[in-house]
Amino acid sequence: MKAVLCKTFGLPETLVVEDVSSPVATQGKVVISVKACGVNFPDTLIIQGKYQIKPPMPFSPGGEVSGIIKEVGERVSHLKVGDKVFSLTGFGGFAEEVVADAKTTLRMPEGMDFITASSVMYTYGTSYHALKNRAVLQAGETLLVLGAAGGVGLAAVELGKIMGARVIAAASTDEKLELCKQYGASEVINYSTEDLRERIKQITAGKGVDVIYDPVGGAYTEPAFRSIAWKGRYLVVGFAAGDIPNLPLNLPLLKGASVVGVFWGAFASNEPQQSMQNFQELLGFIANGNLKPHVHAQYPLEQAPTALNEILNRKVMGKVVVSVQ
Ligand SMILES: NC(=O)c1ccc[n+]([C@@H]2O[C@H](COP(=O)([O-])OP(=O)(O)OC[C@H]3O[C@@H](n4cnc5c(N)ncnc54)[C@H](OP(=O)(O)O)[C@@H]3O)[C@@H](O)[C@H]2O)c1
Repeated sequence: MKAVLCKTFGLPETLVVEDVSSPVATQGKVVISVKACGVNFPDTLIIQGKYQIKPPMPFSPGGEVSGIIKEVGERVSHLKVGDKVFSLTGFGGFAEEVVADAKTTLRMPEGMDFITASSVMYTYGTSYHALKNRAVLQAGETLLVLGAAGGVGLAAVELGKIMGARVIAAASTDEKLELCKQYGASEVINYSTEDLRERIKQITAGKGVDVIYDPVGGAYTEPAFRSIAWKGRYLVVGFAAGDIPNLPLNLPLLKGASVVGVFWGAFASNEPQQSMQNFQELLGFIANGNLKPHVHAQYPLEQAPTALNEILNRKVMGKVVVSVQ
C-alpha cells in the first residue's frame, strides 16, 4: 500500500510517498482502508519533531481518518469488516491503510460522507470540550474566538452560537471573517488592521467578554486577556503563532478571572465516558444540520505536503482534507 512517510524531521517538502507493507490488526485494533484524512495543525508539528508524540521513524502523519474496516483484531466486538468508520489515529492517516485503536473508532452515522467524517472529531471534539466542560459557557454570554476561521476556531464559532452565546470572531483577513459570519459570528474583528482591545470595548460597551477561546497565543493573548469581563474564563487552547506568551498574574486577580487549560486528548483518555457523551451530542448537532464542517480544499495523497503547507501559511479556512483513492 502507498503511504506518505516522514523519514527525517523537517518541513512538508521532506515527506516522501512510498510503497510499504499493510498493517496488521492486533488485539483491540482494527485496520481501516482510508478514504479521507482530516489535516490538523499538530500534523505540521509531528513531522518537525515539535509535537508531544514522537512516533518511531519512518511514520505517516495524519491523526483522524474516515474509511472502511478491512480487518478486525481480537477482543473488538462493536466493529466488523466492511463498516464505514471514522477514527482518531494520532498519526498514520496519510496512507491507503492505517491501524487504529478500536476504542477511538466509531461507525459513521447514516448519510454522512467520508470527507465530512474525516473532519469532525478533532476540531469539534476540542472546541466542545473547551466551551462545555472547561469554560461552562452559558447562553447569553459573550464569546471571543481568536484564529476564528481556523480548524478549532471555526468549530468554536459554530458551537458558541449553538450554545446560545454572542460570538465575536477575530482573524487576520476580511475573507476569513466573512466565513465566520456565515458560521454564526455576530461581530468580527480583523486583528491585522484593527486594535483588538478598542474593538472589544466598543462591541461590549466596555464590559469585556465572558469567555475567550485562544488557539493562537503569541502577541494576541495579553491584549485579549486585558479585555476579559469580571469572572471571565480564558481558554488556553494552543500556540499556532509559535510563541507561548507570558501573562502578568495581576490580570486574572483584577478581573476575578480564570486561566483555563484545555487538553482534549488527555480529557478523552482520562474521562472516556464524558468524552463519548460529548461525541454523541456533537453527532446529534450534525444530524440536525446545526454543525457542518467547512472544507476549504481537498488534495490527493501525493499532494499531502501542499495540504500541510496551507496550514503553515495560514491559508486554511475550516478544514483541509487529504482524500485517498
Ligand atoms: N489543546 C488542545 O487540546 C488542542 C486540540 C487541537 C488543536 N490544538 C491547537 O490549536 C491550534 C490551532 O489548531 P488548528 O488545527 O485549528 O490550526 P489552524 O486551522 O491552522 O488554525 C490556526 C489559526 O491560527 C492563526 N495563526 C496565527 N499565527 C499563525 C501561524 N504563524 N501559523 C499558523 N496559524 C497561525 C491563523 O488564523 P489567522 O490567520 O486568522 O490569525 C490560523 O487560522 C494549534 O496550536 C493546535 O496545536 C490544541
